[in-house]
Amino acid sequence: MTQAAEHPGRNSTSPGIGTPLNRIEGVAKVTGQARYAAEHPAEGLLYGVAVCAGIARGRIRSLDTAGTLNTPGVVQVLTHENRPHVPWYEAPAHDDDDAAGNAKPPVPLLLDGAIMYSGQPIALVVAETFEAARRGAMQVEAAYDTLPHNTMLGSALAQRFTPAAKAQGNIVRGDTQAALDDAAARIDSRYELAMEHHNPMEMHATTVQWHGDGRLTVHDKNQGSQNAQRQLAQAFGLEPDSIMVANHHVGGAFGSGLRPGYQAYLAMLAALMLKRSVRVVMTRQQMFTHVHRPAATQEMRLACDTRGKLQAMEVIATTSTARIETYTENLVKWGAIAYPCDNLRLDYAVAPIDTPTPGNMRAPGAATGVNLLEMALDELAYANGMDPLALRLVNCSDVDGISGLPFTSKALKKAYETGAERFGWHRRSHEPRSMRNGMELSGWGMATGIWEALVLHASATATLDTQGILTVRSAASDIGTGTYTIMAQIAAGALGLPLERVRVEIGESPLPDSPFAGGSAMAASVGAAVHRACKGIARQLSELAGGPVGSNDMAKLAARAPGGRIEASATVDPPQEDGKARNTHSAVFAEVCVDERLSVIRVPRLLACVAAGRIINPKTARSQVLGGLVMGMGMALQEEALFDHRLGRIMNHNLAEYHVPCHADVHDMEVIFVDEPDGLASPLGVKGVGEIGIVGAAAAIANAVHHATGKRIRTLPITLDKLL
Ligand code: MOS
Repeated sequence: MTQAAEHPGRNSTSPGIGTPLNRIEGVAKVTGQARYAAEHPAEGLLYGVAVCAGIARGRIRSLDTAGTLNTPGVVQVLTHENRPHVPWYEAPAHDDDDAAGNAKPPVPLLLDGAIMYSGQPIALVVAETFEAARRGAMQVEAAYDTLPHNTMLGSALAQRFTPAAKAQGNIVRGDTQAALDDAAARIDSRYELAMEHHNPMEMHATTVQWHGDGRLTVHDKNQGSQNAQRQLAQAFGLEPDSIMVANHHVGGAFGSGLRPGYQAYLAMLAALMLKRSVRVVMTRQQMFTHVHRPAATQEMRLACDTRGKLQAMEVIATTSTARIETYTENLVKWGAIAYPCDNLRLDYAVAPIDTPTPGNMRAPGAATGVNLLEMALDELAYANGMDPLALRLVNCSDVDGISGLPFTSKALKKAYETGAERFGWHRRSHEPRSMRNGMELSGWGMATGIWEALVLHASATATLDTQGILTVRSAASDIGTGTYTIMAQIAAGALGLPLERVRVEIGESPLPDSPFAGGSAMAASVGAAVHRACKGIARQLSELAGGPVGSNDMAKLAARAPGGRIEASATVDPPQEDGKARNTHSAVFAEVCVDERLSVIRVPRLLACVAAGRIINPKTARSQVLGGLVMGMGMALQEEALFDHRLGRIMNHNLAEYHVPCHADVHDMEVIFVDEPDGLASPLGVKGVGEIGIVGAAAAIANAVHHATGKRIRTLPITLDKLL
């Protein structure tokens, strides 16, 4: 998809890095011109609707599809008995995610009639219209032989195990028991997080366009078109070049689209079987059995000296995983990186339950592990009778506490100080229940955030044509984050061009290599490749001109170049081992008001002070952090999958009952980016901001609830019943 600036600025100066530009695809989106995966037309398009299992574990005894096949408009019902055989069905069982993070096809669907979780697709009804497919799906009669199931993490802890890939993260250093025994203050507490769900506005959707000549175009909602292309080619035994995957516009993903959703595999199966174009869209309810953030428990024993310096840190964490496939996160390493401690014990493991495979959800691992640790640190500060911010400052370090390496940059101290000043932290009184706001108890809390600053392999090309138009290309994804816009401004800035002379073409697998939009790595990685490619154009221009070139001369120079255009390409790779640690940091401050009689919690103020290197676009970057803060608010106060454990089924699988913060819940929010010059983290000094916003946000709110009420609620979300 090529995107040009819709409303070019009135002046023709170049907007470059650091300009708070509006999204260049914003008008296309709000006027409905931007096409999402389920909006691409196809000739003779068929519609597929998945039928999902009503039991949590067992086997299909019989599947009666006669009524469905008699439904007008229904073309076929795909089941484990009639689906085509493709290499996917011979794929070995998965033990763990790989280094690239789930870059493998999921466990095959419609395999053999075994049911491994409630909501598992057991059939795909394909019809001439969506309505017929949906009606047909309601007619499928399934009978099951059931097996016992368990969907409670607490009941699965006896089967806790550490997958081999995670064993090296389990560190023991020093003598935690001796340090705990000797310390001035200590805590020994267990904190928990409920299972959470990604709820991007756009449901997962795939339109497979069958071209009849062996080629397929797959419009799919995902976070990486090339990753999806590789996975689909592998699963279906197709030449990668025969599948073009496009993700021109993505309506939010938060990690749910790092690997394609099951609808992509079902749509592909149906298209190959029927030799027709097929579209499959998940319902909102089905989104709740597609992927989730695992439930977690984290036992922590922390100790400090009288000044608040950490003397012992024991973190024993467990996340839920599926029985069908193992999913792991990094829960325990972050705190040990952030706060060096001589006596350390980190122990992470998973416990299998009968649910779909969990997956990455915004800041996977850190959102869970750091938020729970930051709540425990607040408890430790109170146990030591000291200010929670003072405890963070005492433990703030210039080196990574695990590797001992210095950071390329770490302006966290400045973030603490700037945030505290702006928030008015010095006006906070220490004692819980000591501040009031009319009828409400008032509480102020804070926490630290940390995430990694990744650079992944990425390429880009840049082309300058005889109209003086610069087009940059990469298979990057814009999952709502602002990729189109920041690539345009990086390109414009590199050549000194006005924005209206830049085109950005991303979101298609044949374009130059790009990682998926994950790990907050897109801006630093693809941004650097785009910048280098544009600098390659600049070099060629000055060679052609024999000197400096103004933007008005570029078209003429391009006309003189061989082929009538100037092209350059560039690649960026992860940094070589250079003895440096790369992280983003934040200080989050929250104010809550709690109605003393009803325990209703409001969050009138949230402030994030973020140290994330160079900020390409302060406007879209702020939006990322705001989104992270709102998600952190949901994590603290609202979000949880509620199971009927007898059925092994999520009962609140809709946006009426699975609560997320809405406009009325969100009040004053402020995002401050502290100045953090960094020449090493990545080629442009960019660190990425997609995930840091949620890390620490839930803890700051939870800590404020303790400050307001004096009640230490250790299980997120803090719904009002827990305060009664
Ligand atoms: Mo993010 S959970 O790396 O998409």
